[in-house]
Amino acid sequence: MEHMNENAEEEWNRAQDAKEFEFMRDNPPPVLDACCGSRMMWFDKQDERALFIDKRRERIEMRPDKSYPSGCVIDVNPDMQLDFTCLPFSNSAFSLVVFDPPHLQREEAKGCLTYKYGVLNGDWRSMLRDGFAECFRVLRPEGVLIFKWAETEVPLREILALTDEKPLFGHKSGKQMGTHWVTFIKVPKVGADKTANAKVTGSPDLSASPSGLPGYAVEDK
Ligand SMILES: C[S@@+](CC[C@H](N)C(=O)[O-])C[C@H]1O[C@@H](n2cnc3c(N)ncnc32)[C@H](O)[C@@H]1O
Repeated sequence: MEHMNENAEEEWNRAQDAKEFEFMRDNPPPVLDACCGSRMMWFDKQDERALFIDKRRERIEMRPDKSYPSGCVIDVNPDMQLDFTCLPFSNSAFSLVVFDPPHLQREEAKGCLTYKYGVLNGDWRSMLRDGFAECFRVLRPEGVLIFKWAETEVPLREILALTDEKPLFGHKSGKQMGTHWVTFIKVPKVGADKTANAKVTGSPDLSASPSGLPGYAVEDK
């Protein structure tokens, strides 16, 4: 690309990024991690069976604080930078979705804990309600959704009330047994989903997403 001037090179890079985005959107692997953070819970952080998304992309070295006396490095590098309330994937695109949203209510992240896990601010109940709805939309019928919730501030039952889907069973973990792993199965609802046969069209629609990250446009087949 020696012959290209800077503008042409930027344009070429943007076009490549758009192509890569469309390829990943249209050919995703079977598993979606809807808010991967630094992938702490994964056995293999580069597992090719999964698509890792998050609304942020950042690497921060944090000074020691109360919760992390040796400091910490936060490295969030998703395959696609997306907002889970407005996903660009077709209905039924994934066999399994894992949904582990932030659980700490703060205006902004300040220390290791909140940078690692993110924060809940503003109208976060609507955000989680929309997140559940999107995760179930992109899940295929009889697909499985794993939801993780740390019950340090908000009780699990209040969060489960944000979706009409009924959990199957769960498991508690952590020092205080405050981390819940909850399993759902998507049972097809006859006639409930008008966009069941919809397909994703065109380029990412940036205006569709509250956070300004790429959203989606659907049309009936
Ligand atoms: C609890 S952490 C996930 C931790 C992750 N499961 C792990 O193993 O490291 C929650 C993540 O949700 C991300 N997040 C918050 N709101 C989001 C949104 N609307 N869309 C996508 N990601 C979001 C945050 O950036 C944060 O990285």
